[in-house]
Amino acid sequence: MKILIVGSGGREHALGWKLKQSPLVSEIIAAPGNPGLAALGRCVAIKADDARELAALAAREQAGLVVIGPEAAAVAGLADALKTLGIPCFGPSKAAAELEGSKAFMKDFCQRHGVPTADYKVFDDAIRAKAYLANREPPFVIKADGLAAGKGVIIAETRAQADKAIDEVLFLRKFGTAGQRIVIEDFLPGEEASFFAICDGETAIPLIAAQDHKRAYDGDKGPNTGGMGAYSPAPVFTDKVRDQTMDEIILPTLAGMKAEGRPFVGVLFAGLMITPAGPKLIEFNVRFGDPECQVLMRRLASDFAPVLLAAAKGELASAAPLEWDAKPAVTVVYAAQGYPDEPLKGSIIRGVPEANALADVVVFHAGTREDEDGTLRADGGRVLSVTAIGDDLKAAIARAYAAVERIDWPGGFCRSDIGWRALG
Ligand code: AMP
Ligand code: GLY
Repeated sequence: MKILIVGSGGREHALGWKLKQSPLVSEIIAAPGNPGLAALGRCVAIKADDARELAALAAREQAGLVVIGPEAAAVAGLADALKTLGIPCFGPSKAAAELEGSKAFMKDFCQRHGVPTADYKVFDDAIRAKAYLANREPPFVIKADGLAAGKGVIIAETRAQADKAIDEVLFLRKFGTAGQRIVIEDFLPGEEASFFAICDGETAIPLIAAQDHKRAYDGDKGPNTGGMGAYSPAPVFTDKVRDQTMDEIILPTLAGMKAEGRPFVGVLFAGLMITPAGPKLIEFNVRFGDPECQVLMRRLASDFAPVLLAAAKGELASAAPLEWDAKPAVTVVYAAQGYPDEPLKGSIIRGVPEANALADVVVFHAGTREDEDGTLRADGGRVLSVTAIGDDLKAAIARAYAAVERIDWPGGFCRSDIGWRALG
């Protein structure tokens, strides 16, 4: 079958790289794709949030499966459009994507279904919001309700900082309409992990966990980003934590979404805080994490295409369990200077083939473009995702950084400490 992958990041390149290895897959088409995906198949210049054009493309190409990368495509209703055309789609409906699209919906949903998460309250009024803080202990966690490109969370150490944040979001509309409402929630101490489960609306099968590095600079300093690197396995995510996460978070969510008439199909990404009292949900995303997906795809030993197809068709109950490489994987994100605020575009990148030539290394493209003569240039914030596996985490990290060394890109920067938490 032909598979249409929607999106243009490192996540989508990693999905394409994995799916291309499947004997079931005859061709990879990507929209809009990137030079990495172009090398695996064919790219069509349609934006990820253009549900109508994407659905028309899938029909024209007689795609056997559409795989949604970014939440924008789900929120735009791509899965709904494909459903009316009878084309299998791995990704949630618009109604199910609310789990990521509205933090207020997500928190209220968790409360209705007993999913463990931080205590919270929703406000659209600054005076009430500030009054609520009077009886709470800092730090205060203040979140814009809607999608704010990963930036809509403010952790305030003091009342004054929290009051200022509330004004900035509700009055000054720092996050635009995403901040028409805010969620204020209790601070959860602990270590974070990203966990993923494949869902068909009724059945969920666990994938594995990864840990992300959200801050831009070494030592977890600097502004929040979409993620500067990831590794898997995540040592905090023991088998016991995984079982608790499935039983207390993933399965009740799947059952609740079905009961509320929004069956969830796709990958459910639970952003977790592993607290002394067990895993608690920080957020849901309705898509793979980027760059977590890159390390997951490197460790997945089974054919992924039949699983995604079974999920799209509601047939996961009869799917074979997935097998994973025991070797750890690491990815280092190579970002453009200026990321995350104002990444500089257009700088020339050399040495990617030399990096790829190293054993156990794959360089996934994220924000790149290619000139007609093949010159590779930066074309986004997160530009490359340099991924390696190794016999142990230390070896995987060393290999990933050896590959980074081979890339000649004065316009880029990366963190030099990806994986430090796991090394202790
Ligand atoms: P989110 O966009 O909801 O994932 O939040 C971004 C980041 O803020 C998370 O990855 C956490 O590091 C932090 N965060 C969010 N909510 C909480 C919370 N309730 N307690 C502690 N840290 C949080
Ligand atoms: N790396 C976190 C995310 O994809 O949201």
